[in-house]
Amino acid sequence: MHMRSIALALVAMVSVGAASAAPADRIVLPTNVSPTHYDIAITPNAAALTFTGSVKIDIDVKQAANRIVLNAADLNFAKVSVSGASAAPAVSYDKTQETATLIFPANISAGAHVLSIDYTGKINQHAAGLFALDYDVANGKKRALFTQFENSDARRFIPSWDEPGHKATFTLTATVPADEMAVSNTPIASTDTLSGNLKRVHFAASPKMSSYLLFFGVGDFERISRKVNGVDVGVIVKRGDTARAAYALDAASHILPYYEDYFGVKFPLPKLDLIAGPGQSQFFGAMENWGAIFYFEGALLIDPKLSTESDKREIYIVIAHEMAHQWFGDLVTMAWWDDLWLNEGFASWMEVKATDHFNPEWHLWLDSQNAKEDAMRVDARGGTHPIIQPIKDVLQANEAFDTITYEKGESVIRMLEDYVGADAFRAGVRNYMKDHAYSNTVTDDLWRELDKTSTTPVSTVAHDFTLQAGVPLIRVTVTPKGLHLTQGRFTNDGTGDATTSWHVPVSVQALGASNIWHGLVTRAQPADVAESTNTAVVVNAGQAGYFRTLYAPAAFAPLAAHFAELKAADQLGLVNDTRALAYAGYEPFGDFISLAAKVTPQTDPTVLTTLAGRLEGIDSLYRELPGQAAYRKFALGVLDPVFAKVGWTAKPGESQNVALLRQALLEALGQMGDPAVIAEARRRFAGFVKDQSSLSGDMRDSVLAIAAGNADAATWEQLHTLAKTTKDSLEKRRYYRLLGTAYNRDLANEALKLAMTDEAEVTTRPSIIREVAGWYPDMAFDFAVANFEKINAMLEPDSRNQFEVGLAAGSYNRATIAKVKAYADAHIAASARQDSVKAQASIAEYATIREKRLPEIDSVLAARKH
Ligand code: BES
Ligand code: ZN
Repeated sequence: MHMRSIALALVAMVSVGAASAAPADRIVLPTNVSPTHYDIAITPNAAALTFTGSVKIDIDVKQAANRIVLNAADLNFAKVSVSGASAAPAVSYDKTQETATLIFPANISAGAHVLSIDYTGKINQHAAGLFALDYDVANGKKRALFTQFENSDARRFIPSWDEPGHKATFTLTATVPADEMAVSNTPIASTDTLSGNLKRVHFAASPKMSSYLLFFGVGDFERISRKVNGVDVGVIVKRGDTARAAYALDAASHILPYYEDYFGVKFPLPKLDLIAGPGQSQFFGAMENWGAIFYFEGALLIDPKLSTESDKREIYIVIAHEMAHQWFGDLVTMAWWDDLWLNEGFASWMEVKATDHFNPEWHLWLDSQNAKEDAMRVDARGGTHPIIQPIKDVLQANEAFDTITYEKGESVIRMLEDYVGADAFRAGVRNYMKDHAYSNTVTDDLWRELDKTSTTPVSTVAHDFTLQAGVPLIRVTVTPKGLHLTQGRFTNDGTGDATTSWHVPVSVQALGASNIWHGLVTRAQPADVAESTNTAVVVNAGQAGYFRTLYAPAAFAPLAAHFAELKAADQLGLVNDTRALAYAGYEPFGDFISLAAKVTPQTDPTVLTTLAGRLEGIDSLYRELPGQAAYRKFALGVLDPVFAKVGWTAKPGESQNVALLRQALLEALGQMGDPAVIAEARRRFAGFVKDQSSLSGDMRDSVLAIAAGNADAATWEQLHTLAKTTKDSLEKRRYYRLLGTAYNRDLANEALKLAMTDEAEVTTRPSIIREVAGWYPDMAFDFAVANFEKINAMLEPDSRNQFEVGLAAGSYNRATIAKVKAYADAHIAASARQDSVKAQASIAEYATIREKRLPEIDSVLAARKH
């Protein structure tokens, strides 16, 4: 491990791609030739879904050679030449490796050359390479074009060295319809008017950057903009949508100066556009192209008629996330996908920090505990991996965009910032930015900077949590002198392991006390904390630590007794840990049930929102089991009094988190069959069908969700008509997705059939299937397997190794595990089956919960006095 870090750090220092020091089994391009500049000219033919391109690449040939290998996928080279070469090369393509090899009759000399290639390519109808999104307008249809390159699809647009370590500058020229708007990473330098209603747009040169960050888009767009700290910040939308873009422009305008300050580096480009595309992907919602961030429109636009409080929040967050990448990712880039978490973990943490700064009333750090919860769930079972993991090829890189990289990454950074202090942490990040700008890094480059700026060395803790998989378990027992803390490992089957050890930063605080005990606990070094033994004492106080806390009954009892007095973060931590420990068999389920019964309408709304979701999740696992009725009686007994206070209608001046709570309660009560809630939702839905202005925002979303979930055939048809008739892409997509959410099996089946027709836009179709999988995972999976060729054609290649297996992940049938495995063996490349492994682990976990834990809940509830 140590060796690898040193080798890669050296590579970064001499500013060459990481590939030259790569492990032998890594499948990357030869490093003999590398690019310094790309001069690209593109002419799309949107109607024919093809394009022609011509590229001149300045290359540096390190040793004389008669071969050049570069990336190309689905491109046809018409003409190839290299300056100084006497003859054109022969070209051979490798479809699996996505490379083209140019074989010259004689050696190309060492030194600088220009490689020129004229070529043609295709425009996809899913987000890979250059792609088209179609949408309705008043009198027909329109088509807009965009690009999507991460992690390895620039090679569908330009023959290139398409690996993050090969940074180069780019100039792009595009020939497009004269009445359309063309966008790229940089401003337009000049425009030529051409005949045939065309124009040629020349974009200014980009900074030195990785190929996956290049962007191009063209369509009938409008742009709104504002100057912020000298940067031209814009939001680009299809014609007619500018009013929906105002919220995003405000958010971006707030966040830009905040980041310039936090990172200590000015935004390096003259403009920053946020671009909305009318469609979606099964893989991502937004992409951080430098200076030209792409969003599927649902992740960027706000319309008071359609959007909810949580949409506003998600949009603020996704803007903060992609803008964080403009520094962490775009200016400083991981050398190879092993360190992808430097991009995604960091941006996921930063999105919370920036959004919380501008919207403190949302209490996002509290909410982020649920991201940590998602991470700890997958990190406790089969198929997990360390945050930093060896990535062999780009197919595997694709799988690294997962909960460990994002949510565990985010949680570990939060823990480290808490451990070293916010100022020391920021100072280290600033130095890291300055030292590595326009270059590539490995994770140890960051730790080195933090070790310098922090008084407590960070790398010991950091290495333990990034190089080892898994979740530490801190067991708390009561001794005559206070608390005794020991360390083990939390696994979802309760078996743990006997060896893994972490340096875990632990904070301990007694209820009402002002002092906090801080210490490092390892497996070999337990800790004793002097505390009065009859008060409630919280371990992981503030909940910044990435570990689970298992209290012995004597330590748990006072916490449960004083639950209402704990800080919201600690209440949430206790609820989450207690549930997970009960699922895994470490702790009796009665502890979770007793905490759930303790909440009141006065409990913090985020804690209540989480609890509503947890109770709903348990209900989903009770499907078709005899205990469900008794369980629902209990869960409704907990949530109904809360809903009685929150009500259907927003109260003037209520906290925005109450709006989220209302939505979560309605969703949970709607699923658990609360008769009053369902009747009222149906009544409101009937009014909406007559007059669509009768509902908007949060209420519209909740009512439509309950009506669709509990739909009969007539209601489903009403929704279907609404889907067909609206011309608004944002609204249309929501209706079609709702059609997949019916609990009625026949209607779910209808939705699956609908997804195979060409009625909905191509990118909407797979998401109907995904919605069906929410309640009918096995049915959706079987259907997708039966139709996989047709479905895969609708999906971006990045999604093909995870979409079908992901449908099954919510199943609780052990028989499905073998079916998932068989599907993966037959249809997914061996290096890319990790998502299938994760899905199998998820199914096994659900099956175990149904076999072992739900009966436990049954008996706990039977024994409760009502
Ligand atoms: N870089 C990713 C998007 C991406 C990754 C696109 C891999 C294609 C392949 C981007 O920064 C991202 O993480 N987007 C998230 C949103 C974010 C708020 C978590 C997404 O799209 O889900
Ligand atoms: Zn990201």
